[in-house]
Amino acid sequence: MGVSDVIIYDTTLRDGEQTPGVNLNAKEKLEIAKQLKNLNVDIIEAGFPIASNGDFEAVKLIANEVKGVGVSALARASRADIDRAYEALKGAERPRIHVFIATSDIHLKYKLKMSREEALNKAVEMVAYAKSKLQDVQFSAEDATRSDWDYLAKVYESVIDAGATTINIPDTVGYTTPGEFAQLIDYLKTHVKNIDKVAISVHCHNDLGLAVANSLTAALNGVRQIEVTINGLGERAGNAALEEVVMALNTRKDYYKRNVNINTQQIYRTSRLVSTLTGISVQPNKAIVGANAFAHEAGIHQHGVLSERSTYEIMTPESIGLSHSSIVLGKHSGRHAFEARLKELGYNLDPEAINKAFERFKDLADKKKTVLDQDIEAIVENKSISVPE
Ligand code: KIV
Ligand code: ZN
Repeated sequence: MGVSDVIIYDTTLRDGEQTPGVNLNAKEKLEIAKQLKNLNVDIIEAGFPIASNGDFEAVKLIANEVKGVGVSALARASRADIDRAYEALKGAERPRIHVFIATSDIHLKYKLKMSREEALNKAVEMVAYAKSKLQDVQFSAEDATRSDWDYLAKVYESVIDAGATTINIPDTVGYTTPGEFAQLIDYLKTHVKNIDKVAISVHCHNDLGLAVANSLTAALNGVRQIEVTINGLGERAGNAALEEVVMALNTRKDYYKRNVNINTQQIYRTSRLVSTLTGISVQPNKAIVGANAFAHEAGIHQHGVLSERSTYEIMTPESIGLSHSSIVLGKHSGRHAFEARLKELGYNLDPEAINKAFERFKDLADKKKTVLDQDIEAIVENKSISVPE
């Protein structure tokens, strides 16, 4: 397959806001939406307008103020939901209504209390209703990956007939695996009439830690749109993380052969903003945006990176908007990194003095997790250093 663009659909403000404990007001949502625009995402899912007046106002504000990007709003397969979404989206330059209904037998039986046929009819009726208001209509078959494939194909085929322009395949409970997901996408491509006339999208949850892997598999299998959130926020274990999906596609373009139009240098800034406003901190070892993602502690690694960064860095910190990687001085660090830090701190010691300082450094590093710049200054200047118990 040749190189083609992947649409990045960001749902931080909708599914991301479903992270337990997160509640963003309209002003905070607008600030994040503006930053998502700087990041150059293709579509912002701004919220679920029927859910609350606050969410309605937030979607409306974003639709009115953030231009040059698609703005989407979620609606269940109900007229009231679609009317509310449409109302909120009126000011948007490129509005999209996202209609969803569950298709798995578990959801039909216990949640919707509907037969397969009733859900199919409802999906068709509501997609047609949304289409009567807007051109751009996305349809999601909730819990698609636990649905009967034959029935799922029938639902997608029918909503395409009714006017859906994007059909989304949600792995709602993070149940599928990369191999199985590839088979499902392939099955739908061969069993849904006119599927080539619409955009196929995926929306992967991370219950088994597979959201990014499943999304990347979908990219490999030619889907047009991937739904993501900043820092992987979202219901339960979250959604596929934008920063991971995008940097994987970019770093391994040789393999995936897909383009994304994201301004990756805005990734770090966006991650920090979302973390600050949601109050959800980013784990230090989180890929791409964690505090340790570009930090090197072991002497062998530090020596490598100081000689040639690509020895232990597959992407540059600058590519996500950081100014540099960091060399953390600890008990695994070697002389090479220690000498480099001395120089950075302005010390120009003779070899004998470096030997002595390095010995004191190693002694201290055995007692302390991280040796800070002020510790190094104290070492060189022969001052005493207090070590926490
Ligand atoms: O996970 C899910 O199924 C959803 C849908 C509304 C797309 O978030
Ligand atoms: Zn979801």
